[in-house]
Amino acid sequence: MIVTDSLLTSFLKTRSDTEEICAPLETEDYVIQPIVDVSPPKWHLGHTTWFFEEFILSKYDTNYKRFHPEYAYVFNSYYESVGKRVIRTNRGNLSRPTVSQVYQYRDYVTSHLQAFLEENFDEKINELVEIGIHHEKQHQELLLTDIKFILGNNPLFPKYNETFTENPESNQSNQYVTIQEGIYEIGYQGNDFCYDNELGVHRVLLEEYAICNELVSNKEYLDFINDGGYNDSLLWHAEAWDWIKNDNIQAPLYWHLIDGQYYQYTLQGLKALKLNTSVTHISYYEAFAFAQWKGQRLPTEFEWEVAQHQFKWGSRWEWTESAYLPYPNYKKAPGALGEYNGKFMVNQKVLRGGSVATSQDHTRSTYRNFFHPNLRWQFTGLRLVKNI
Ligand code: AVJ
Ligand code: FE
Repeated sequence: MIVTDSLLTSFLKTRSDTEEICAPLETEDYVIQPIVDVSPPKWHLGHTTWFFEEFILSKYDTNYKRFHPEYAYVFNSYYESVGKRVIRTNRGNLSRPTVSQVYQYRDYVTSHLQAFLEENFDEKINELVEIGIHHEKQHQELLLTDIKFILGNNPLFPKYNETFTENPESNQSNQYVTIQEGIYEIGYQGNDFCYDNELGVHRVLLEEYAICNELVSNKEYLDFINDGGYNDSLLWHAEAWDWIKNDNIQAPLYWHLIDGQYYQYTLQGLKALKLNTSVTHISYYEAFAFAQWKGQRLPTEFEWEVAQHQFKWGSRWEWTESAYLPYPNYKKAPGALGEYNGKFMVNQKVLRGGSVATSQDHTRSTYRNFFHPNLRWQFTGLRLVKNI
């Protein structure tokens, strides 16, 4: 056996963790796509499987036969250079392949890749398996947030389970940590896995700033709402103002005002809003407006990376003020995998940290998540910065 045990173990664990996430679902929950950004759980299960089939088995395992000739069409997400696919808005319109066929597809690819790795191993394949594992971990987080959206937009507010804790308590000591002005190094410098968008270590000049050691809480966010934050146009970007007016946005996603009391849909069902936890499910637009209301601002992604060892992070993806751009020395991977991150470096914002839904050993201090500024179905939050 040439394959390193740890890579195979981590591959198999990642595959079974994904299925564990789906264990509480009913068959009907696997199929729907309530908004374009939310994919059916069935699609995530198939897509993460297709990734290993497309980028490893079909290329390097000469005896491999694809499980089904049409599955590349069904489960390719956005790789233009790989071929045509079901358009994103149609992912929820597919009653076939069935959920049980998708699970059979998973088993087929998992066991073929396991057998292949036990016989064949080299640097190149190691790297591809690693990216496949991290890719599937990204989809584990998307699965949880998509399941939350599917269940949380159902009038019956079904629970996902009794144990998923998304609102850890915070004591709100709100200390500001001062970072001296200076030239700092940004980017990943370790020897473990990272994405191409974290590479190209480079220096940035930062002015002195003070960053809060706590995330903004539900209590603070409620003060913003009660102070009329959503009605004060001076706090909002123009496109943000159009968005809150057109979509009638008056609170974070999943907040429900019932008889004058706020409730929040959580994966444990509808609960009275907990005040001493970090606000979540807000867009960049709302994070920015809140900071304006406070007379403060969001950190840039560089300020966040330089200061991150001074505070706890990992329960919320933290909106930054930074546009998602290539680092100066950015090199995208050759071929189809070059489409993985690079082509999204326009019109999106960077988020740093991680969240209660991020799978173990997936995020790190240089990790760059990215979303469009209006999106808020991820476990997003914000941290404030003051100029000095
Ligand atoms: C980094 C979370 C924005 O959702 O498209 C999944 C993750 N990349 N498959 C996304 C991803 C390829 C990506 N985000
Ligand atoms: Fe993907």
